[in-house]
Amino acid sequence: MPYALFRPLLFALDAEQAHHAAFAALDAQAAFGLARLWAGHLPEKPVELLGLRFPNPIGLAAGLDKNACHLRGLAQLGFGFIEVGTLTPRPQPGNPKPRMFRLIEHEALINRLGFNNDGVEAALPRLAARSVSVPVGVNIGKNATTPNDRAHDDYLACLRAVYLQADYVTVNVSSPNTKNLRDLQAPKAIRALVRSIVDERDHLQRLHARGCPIAVKIAPDITPEDLPDVVEAILDGGADALISSNTTLSREGVEAHPLAHETGGLSGAPLTARADRVLKQVVAAVRGRVPIIGVGGIMSVADAQRKLDLGADLVQVYTGLIYRGPGFVGELVRGIQPRRA
Ligand SMILES: Cc1cc2nc3c(=O)[nH]c(=O)nc-3n(C[C@H](O)[C@H](O)[C@H](O)COP(=O)(O)O)c2cc1C
Repeated sequence: MPYALFRPLLFALDAEQAHHAAFAALDAQAAFGLARLWAGHLPEKPVELLGLRFPNPIGLAAGLDKNACHLRGLAQLGFGFIEVGTLTPRPQPGNPKPRMFRLIEHEALINRLGFNNDGVEAALPRLAARSVSVPVGVNIGKNATTPNDRAHDDYLACLRAVYLQADYVTVNVSSPNTKNLRDLQAPKAIRALVRSIVDERDHLQRLHARGCPIAVKIAPDITPEDLPDVVEAILDGGADALISSNTTLSREGVEAHPLAHETGGLSGAPLTARADRVLKQVVAAVRGRVPIIGVGGIMSVADAQRKLDLGADLVQVYTGLIYRGPGFVGELVRGIQPRRA
């Protein structure tokens, strides 16, 4: 059945209910290998970086499969890599519902989920038992009740827990839905945080003779004046990659929508231009020293290609999948040309 027929049924449900219904359908199809029918013909467009081989540069952004429950179905859709999480050390319920809203006319979402997740330990058996062949990254965060001056405890606990199961780890300091989390992006704070995580990674690497690249995911709301210092601090801390970017607190372009006042991060089409602007600045600041994953408002092949052309090595999608459906991944993979070195 084409997604155009499915979508009105899903969109008749509350956004979070639709999320569960869509995953129930995907998992049922995936059990019989049928979810790959959504992908269509999937050419290999391999990208090699961070010591990993990505069959194509189109990834799933964090937050859709927070608990690593749907890896098989997601891989069948054609993703070249999948990022699970955000996972925190202890399980937490997130914010009260409703906490996720569709701005359909704008092809956008506002969410204030607040890192609802089952806790890092719960995801481990699923990560260990996975049979997908694409890299799986694990996005980690801190619990809402952990004060910022103890944040490193939470990130280190998550890193240690997932170390043997993660192809890469993303340090998420850019969600707008955990109070004061974004303060950790301040240069002094992020340098110290990343350094402690990278030191621990180096220790674990010696212990297990297995590497694990560390990526840092930033917000698109860092001002152009502050951004170079933030990037420099992240690189100085020893990060192996940058992910640009998370959702925005801006309501530019959606001000008149009745749901625009809802608290949370905005994603999808209204984020595209801002995310591209920030990506461009990040590329300029990084100067080729580490790979960059571009994310934010990819709603078409052209949007993905532009991020690659701006200098992203890989890209990720979330909201585009909700609006375009499961066939979107294959469409992107067929349509883009990976960046040449
Ligand atoms: C409902 C929802 C939940 C999200 N949860 C997370 C999360 O847990 N961790 C994270 O790093 N990013 C999270 N994100 C941000 C996405 O990974 C992505 O950075 C952002 O949505 C921009 O991409 P998009 O416009 O393609 O959706 C979430 C986004 C949405 C819409």
